[in-house]
Amino acid sequence: MFQFTYYTPTMVVFGRGAEEKTGALVKAQGCKKVLIHYGGGSAARSGLLERIKDSLTRAGVAHMELGGVVPNPRLSLVYQGIELAREEGVDFILAVGGGSVIDSSKAIAYGAAEEADVWDLYDRARKAKACLPVGVVLTIAAAGSEMSNSSVITKDEGGVKRGYNDDLCRPRFAVMNPELTMTLPPYQTASGCVDILMHTMERYFTPNGTMEITDSIAEGLMRTVMKNAVILRDDPQNYEARAEVMWAGSLSHNGLTGCGSDGGDWAPHGLEHEMGGMFDVTHGAGLAAVWGSWARYVYRDCLDRFVRFAVNVMGVDGSGTAQDVALAGIKAMEDFYRSIHMPTCFSELGISPTREQLKTMAHMLHIASGGKKGAAKVLYEADFLNIYENANH
Ligand code: NZQ
Ligand code: ZN
Repeated sequence: MFQFTYYTPTMVVFGRGAEEKTGALVKAQGCKKVLIHYGGGSAARSGLLERIKDSLTRAGVAHMELGGVVPNPRLSLVYQGIELAREEGVDFILAVGGGSVIDSSKAIAYGAAEEADVWDLYDRARKAKACLPVGVVLTIAAAGSEMSNSSVITKDEGGVKRGYNDDLCRPRFAVMNPELTMTLPPYQTASGCVDILMHTMERYFTPNGTMEITDSIAEGLMRTVMKNAVILRDDPQNYEARAEVMWAGSLSHNGLTGCGSDGGDWAPHGLEHEMGGMFDVTHGAGLAAVWGSWARYVYRDCLDRFVRFAVNVMGVDGSGTAQDVALAGIKAMEDFYRSIHMPTCFSELGISPTREQLKTMAHMLHIASGGKKGAAKVLYEADFLNIYENANH
């Protein structure tokens, strides 16, 4: 077990009708003008946006809006938001949406708080000194950005997708009404479940620094998400299942499932970010498509963890050789992905990269990761390419 700091300052307001409290929550932050940031239309179609504006008006909070965030959110809209926020004297960003909207909001919040180019943060050229406060009304359980210190932005030219982590951007509050997620297309619900699992697996698959309590929380979280993902496949309007998955999404990425470890592996996320940048795939589906290839590539170097995962999470009979048990656990996870209609290779994801494209992604990850990535097994550019190639069928 390593030393750790667990910092999770986000106030969570959870349950039916929680969004009605948004105005009061923003007002309590003492801000003067709010920028409501949202996506491509779901929040407007469902009437949520109007309800949020009403709630702000009732609380006497001045507000303006900027929509149009797309999945894999783009830097160009972030720049627009920063300009708007500066011109209008905005001092609070309210994200109404999912990970993409929240991440775009965080980027605007960084950009509006400092003169320098916000992309420098994502390009690892500097660290942020300031960030406007951000609040969230969550509409999809997936990225965990509502409590995380992270944001991921894609630069329009060249599809360069990069993340920046800093406690400054952790949302002040997160409003979570599981009912708001009931309008999600099944593909997004399932992709979200994969992303939630993956945030826990990234922290779980490391040989360095583990704790019984952290492992138990992680294993329980993963079992809960898999069980409820299947319930939601068959019954998307199931409130209890929506609630289980929504809360799991926040807990999987607010740091809780990493306490005591070395920070985790994060190679699957690195691999997926390049796929998202180049092919604009849905994040969770992209993770599912590359995970099996990654797991089979690294499991021997982290055998104990893969055996434990197979037995405690996937319910594999542990009586075989360690290698057989570990491989059975990986196969069981892939079977689970298929059961919720998630891909396990690139063709199922709907992409067919050329060898040149695979090499470009491997090289981009080499640059993004500073040369190496991973804890279960430390990976280099040639390994990234091998993993992509093994998933490319
Ligand atoms: O734009 P709208 O119309 O709202 O449609 C969205 C979008 O098409 C739709 N949607 C969201 N809520 C809905 C809904 N449709 C109907 N009803 C609702 N209630 O769902 C689609 C996906 O939304 P998005 O925000 O992109 O999903 P997600 O939360 O999965 O976010 C993905 C992004 O987050 C990044 C990913 O890389 C990706 O860019 N991540 C951010 C992290 C973080 N900041 O901590 C960590 C993650 O690992 C991840 O990398
Ligand atoms: Zn993720």
